[in-house]
Amino acid sequence: MGVLSARSYVDDRPADGVFRVHRDVYSDPELFELEMKYIFERTWNFLTVETQIAKPNDYITTFIGRTPVVVMRDAKGNIGAFLNSCRHKGATVCRFEKGNAKFHVCLYHGWAYDASGKNVSIKQRESADYPAAFDAENHDLIPIAKLASYKGLIFGSLSPDVPPLEEHLGDLKFFIDLHMEQGAQGMEIIPGRVAYTYRGNWKMQLENGQDPYHVDTAHGSFMAIAERRRKGQGNTAAQEQDWQKRNNVQIGAYEFPHGHTSVWHDVAEPERRAVYASLDEIKSRVGPLKAEWMVRMRNAVFFPNLQIADQIVPILRTFRPISVGVTELRSNVIGPIGEAPEKRAARLRQFEDFVNPGGYATPDDITVFADCQVGFGATGVDFLQGYSRGIGASQQGANEEAIEAGLHPVSSVKGHRTQNTETGTHAPFREWVRLMEAGMAGRKAYP
Ligand code: FES
Ligand SMILES: [Fe+2]
Repeated sequence: MGVLSARSYVDDRPADGVFRVHRDVYSDPELFELEMKYIFERTWNFLTVETQIAKPNDYITTFIGRTPVVVMRDAKGNIGAFLNSCRHKGATVCRFEKGNAKFHVCLYHGWAYDASGKNVSIKQRESADYPAAFDAENHDLIPIAKLASYKGLIFGSLSPDVPPLEEHLGDLKFFIDLHMEQGAQGMEIIPGRVAYTYRGNWKMQLENGQDPYHVDTAHGSFMAIAERRRKGQGNTAAQEQDWQKRNNVQIGAYEFPHGHTSVWHDVAEPERRAVYASLDEIKSRVGPLKAEWMVRMRNAVFFPNLQIADQIVPILRTFRPISVGVTELRSNVIGPIGEAPEKRAARLRQFEDFVNPGGYATPDDITVFADCQVGFGATGVDFLQGYSRGIGASQQGANEEAIEAGLHPVSSVKGHRTQNTETGTHAPFREWVRLMEAGMAGRKAYP
């Protein structure tokens, strides 16, 4: 049928209390192509964390949408990010996810690049009878248009026409701080990571992080396990919250500019949070307000490709869209640099217990994502209804908590935990419409 205007996929009428999303945004391959072009390739994307490339010649490979990217620290310690594609015939030059190499030699015909992206060898150049025009060309890896860091998180853009990173992050910086200021000497990605694909659109994971409503149904079996543990059976060392008590707290959501968003809720048992034991030290360093926010459970999204979540332990999860119905997720746990080994071990066990395909929660989520993706095949239905919970409690601008924290959200929601607001999905979809509309109309993404 062809793609319609971006606005026609998101029925967003705040004055009427309506927010609905057309199922085609999750299943139409044509829209997916436009998303790659007009969203991923025209805005800032999260790439990696500086501690992942701590030493000279360290590198990590990732993607911006479907564009392979390598982020490298050169011999002098400077960070660069390049298209991971050989200038000769386009093969990926760095074939591993992470490593340390002074030189990257392309497997196909042996062209070589150093850690600053400079071409240092073209095999058999002397005997090639290359024309002068070839010699005049630049053969280095192509740097991406923009690269910047905030609190150790590295972001990049394939388009030069983006706002400065910190302006783009806006108040999401507060939620990054809550992650990255937990350790007195900083935070690091704990070595190792989990990567997996699921049969669902990339936005399913983005939304899932903003969806407290699914927890007691989709993760019902996990809640039953947690309940048994509290009665002294199974892995009693696991420190999950009491899920019943958890239902009697306040929940809230903020919508920020540029598609960023965050859902949070208070905790009934702060002493069960990983951060709790260090709270005095943290308070003295970052002040009581941020320390209190670190205890809250938070799930923030950097649009379009990063989840900054601290439900059980602080994690960073990156979504990589592979096709309209397949997504790769890379999941990392972060911890304070210099953390005591027994605390580090406990953190890792918590990480494994809940998230990731080997944990108790992720298999539930990726199963229901696949169910949704199949369900999107149903004809005769158009708009989905899963975006309305909490709208009745939404207010323009900052609410009390936001004002106290110095935040300026576009809108705020607060309510009882069982309100289970779905409004955390609005900001990403509003930015989705804005960027898609600009792209389709031939306008710049950031006027
Ligand atoms: S594609 Fe890299 S050397 Fe030919
Ligand atoms: Fe979940």
